[in-house]
Amino acid sequence: MAFFYILLVILLVTFIVSFILAVIRTIQFDYSNPSIPPGVNHEGKLRIILASVISISAMGRLLEMMGVCSQIAFTRYVCAGQRLPPDPRLRVSEVAFARVPVRLYRPRVPPAGLRAGTIFFHGGGWLYGSVDSHEKICRYLARETDSVVVSVGYRLAPEHKYPAAYEDCLNATVHFMKNIEHYGVDPARIIVSGDSAGGNLAAAVSQTLASRPDLPKLRAQILIYPGLQALDFNLPSYQQNRGVPLLFRERAAFYVLQYLNGDASNLEEVLEGSHIPSDIILNYRKWVSPDYIPERFKARGYKPHVLLECATEVYEAGKRFCEPNLCPLLAEDAVVHQQPESFILTCEYDVLRDDGLLYKKRLEDNGVPVTWYHLEDGFHGIISLHDYSVFSFPAGKRGLDSIVNFIRGL
Ligand SMILES: *[C@@H]1O[C@H](CO)[C@@H](O)[C@H](O)[C@H]1NC(C)=O
Repeated sequence: MAFFYILLVILLVTFIVSFILAVIRTIQFDYSNPSIPPGVNHEGKLRIILASVISISAMGRLLEMMGVCSQIAFTRYVCAGQRLPPDPRLRVSEVAFARVPVRLYRPRVPPAGLRAGTIFFHGGGWLYGSVDSHEKICRYLARETDSVVVSVGYRLAPEHKYPAAYEDCLNATVHFMKNIEHYGVDPARIIVSGDSAGGNLAAAVSQTLASRPDLPKLRAQILIYPGLQALDFNLPSYQQNRGVPLLFRERAAFYVLQYLNGDASNLEEVLEGSHIPSDIILNYRKWVSPDYIPERFKARGYKPHVLLECATEVYEAGKRFCEPNLCPLLAEDAVVHQQPESFILTCEYDVLRDDGLLYKKRLEDNGVPVTWYHLEDGFHGIISLHDYSVFSFPAGKRGLDSIVNFIRGL
């Protein structure tokens, strides 16, 4: 009998140990070599944020393995953002634009005339984020620019795959434009904006609206560290910042796969660049190439990447990888040429830095005026941490104020 119990205990211990090892292994896979580069804004604070990002991920993995809830559901719950007390300077209302839920922010001070209208698409890798998570940013923009801000609660992946988020953003924007007179907004000063995945959506919506002469022309687009391509995850910024929070290189590929396919199989192929046939990749080298990244951005290290051959079935799974509504950097010149005046914010310590730099070049090559603001000490997501009590990053506030100044100048 004693032998039986000993066996049981050994089995149990083996089970627990292998379970813990499995969790550790998956976390190591998710966050291989996180690194906080010297020179980043408030290195110490970022270290603590990194630790909490990893803990949340680990906890999510653990819950998922135990069958309690998915890691995505857990992360959404944790990052939902708490309800803030009302801001007496703003009138806030929840409405639906073309069946898409939106939150409207209107300054209470009597308007001097018609206001600018800023449509905002929140970030979060198309999987996370909400109008709540970006409440502070939207309030700040509405107050400081005296504009009407429309924050769009588009549908999230992987439940709702591409192009659901894009269509929601487009439909909400079109509805706003068609009903502009109800909001005291000047039809000549409508702006689309967004951070990260939201910047991707803003760029895609702006491109689509170029072919809608029936609607008011956009006054500007504001792209805050946008993700704009899924062709090359080995550009200099992806190599240099692969382990810098809040966005790791693997995660960037993971998010775009979740958005496009609803799952992240083929992650390795996407990271290697073997998810698309090399002739197609080479064809897009005219727009997506390390050659167009200025030398000073390669100083922190860059190794040219050798293309591998693409397996047919991998490409079949992701044929839509090159659609401009997913990757606005791949739009034709005729479309880019029609883009409104643009503001692009990039951060030095961000894998998506080069997406922004390449789109800046495309816009400028097509005669579109670009205001570029580069946070030399910034990292991905820093705008959301501009006002996060003891974890505030002053560079995030600087970035946000540069956006405010741009809107005021329109
Ligand atoms: C967006 O609007 C178009 C045109 O009104 C409509 O056909 C389409 O179903 C809408 N998309 C969604 C996701 O509601």
